[in-house]
Amino acid sequence: MKYPKEYLDEIKTRLKVSTVVSKSVSLKKRGKEFVGLSPFKNEKTPSFTVNDEKGFYHCFSTSEHGNIFDFIMKTQNLKFGEAVKTLANYAGMQPYTFSRADEERENDWKNYSQIYKDYIEYHNEELLKNPDLNEVRDYLKNRNLNSNDVKNFDLGFVRNKKNFYQELLNKFKDKDLKDSGLFYFDEKNKEYVERFRGRIIFPIKSITGQFIAAGGRIIKKETYLAKYVNSPETKFFKKGNHLYNLDKARKFSNSNEQVFLVEGYMDVIGLTKNKIENCVANLGTALTDRQISILNQFFNEIVICFDSDESGYRAAVRAAENSIKELKPEKQISFLFLPSGEDPDSFVNNKGKEEFLNYYREKKVPIHIFLFEHFKKQSTNSPSSLAVFEKRLRELAKQIKDEFIRKYILDYFIGKIDELTPNLTRGKKYAIKHVASLSTTKKIINESKSLSKADIQEFSLLYLIINNLNFFQQRENLFDNLIFISDQGNKVLSYLKEFIASSSDLDKSNLDIDNGFLNKINKFASIKHISENVKKEETKLIEIFEEMKKDLNNISIDKQISDLESKFSQDLSENTFNKIIELKKLQNTN
Ligand code: UTP
Ligand code: MN
Repeated sequence: MKYPKEYLDEIKTRLKVSTVVSKSVSLKKRGKEFVGLSPFKNEKTPSFTVNDEKGFYHCFSTSEHGNIFDFIMKTQNLKFGEAVKTLANYAGMQPYTFSRADEERENDWKNYSQIYKDYIEYHNEELLKNPDLNEVRDYLKNRNLNSNDVKNFDLGFVRNKKNFYQELLNKFKDKDLKDSGLFYFDEKNKEYVERFRGRIIFPIKSITGQFIAAGGRIIKKETYLAKYVNSPETKFFKKGNHLYNLDKARKFSNSNEQVFLVEGYMDVIGLTKNKIENCVANLGTALTDRQISILNQFFNEIVICFDSDESGYRAAVRAAENSIKELKPEKQISFLFLPSGEDPDSFVNNKGKEEFLNYYREKKVPIHIFLFEHFKKQSTNSPSSLAVFEKRLRELAKQIKDEFIRKYILDYFIGKIDELTPNLTRGKKYAIKHVASLSTTKKIINESKSLSKADIQEFSLLYLIINNLNFFQQRENLFDNLIFISDQGNKVLSYLKEFIASSSDLDKSNLDIDNGFLNKINKFASIKHISENVKKEETKLIEIFEEMKKDLNNISIDKQISDLESKFSQDLSENTFNKIIELKKLQNTN
């Protein structure tokens, strides 16, 4: 039996060719394509290309050419059915099982999608051409939508009087019409009624671009009518699985890292008209983790940008709680809160694309920071409130599926809570340490407070060198791997090394070091109290010098780690994380 086209298309749209190929071939981006060494031939220069937009790979040296199914069949030596199973699994889809019910389902799908197609096309035509609909076209004009927009978004209008049900009955069975959700039964008049009558309709498409549902907006404010109604859930439309405009937005994932996830149909239209086409809307219900995981297949960053009203904020909190479990390395979820009174549609129409994007770059908040701040706002400083706060955050972090990210976010939350309660000590302090920078403006008495551990260590090392110039001339290898953190320390160290190497008269009075700095060395070098005794014993001196060198390296690694940790809290990048792990290994071996 044949796999239904709907199922195969869904696999294809969920998986980029480059995603599939890069599991076995290492690819480099070159313009719109990717290149790599051909998996079909042993070669040294890459002749294998992948084009995600076209959905094909091509090998110039063997002329092999095909889509993701061909690729898996050829490289893994699988039959078509097995390739489908493998790829469905990659795409996070259930394996397809053939049964009588499936045959029926396929048949139902054909009718369902055809009903929607006829319905949408008819009402689109009406909105564009029917002379009775001037009032509706005026409404659209007032909202800055012209006939091109009506065409691009397949908008339609369902007249109050006309009932399309009868017309469709010529072509389809009434059961199929009922199952479409486009009509409901009016018990009083014993007839099927248009769900969207008197409304502008916004068609919703599946990921592969077929109409599967719609939302309808009234054009005049009537208190007894909901502003929008949406198709009910049907066999082929599950709200939590679909996103408005995903079929188009996903095509922009080659040129955009991020996707904007907004609340409304009009937000998507407003952004798109302003040339921000990488946007989708969830469909009048809470965002699901499933929707997040679909977006993650295409985009590296999901920017959740809801309306700036109270309900938008609450929806954002819910979205954050529902989606944090999907956080992965290299994938970000951020939130963007618009100025009061705005939604993405109004903001981008008033301010334009660049200002919207600037606002995004400056104001986006990573998901874990948003959640932390949100729950912090809700708690007081009382121990019991803080305990609840901590418990809530721990529960959230625990849901994260990815092990690395789970650990990181948990550490982040605990570290931030520790900062709020500096008097309570936990076994381990997670708070990020800051290495204070040297301040020359402070009075010398305050100066020692402003010195970091690294500064003191550098002073001590310099102190030892300056007071043992001859000794170091004979043992220049002691300078190996000696790296200072401060700029000034580094300069003086280089100067000293040069002086020692080139000078025959090693008298410290010949040194040309800034007096202020020299004073500090003499004042703050912690080693000076013991160095007098040490001087007499050479091995002791070497030992101490090596020891201090190691300490300085560790301080430097600590600083690099805390810098990277702040970076990681912003970008959640696997690369940054790996660097941290590498440094932590170094820290342990030092
Ligand atoms: P909004 O009220 O923010 O509408 O609802 P909007 O998209 O900004 O549209 P305009 O500018 O007022 O025309 C956001 C989304 O919430 C859903 C719809 O999907 C809508 O696009 N919604 C809203 C409903 O499902 N039912 C409603 O009654 C209202
Ligand atoms: Mn809105």
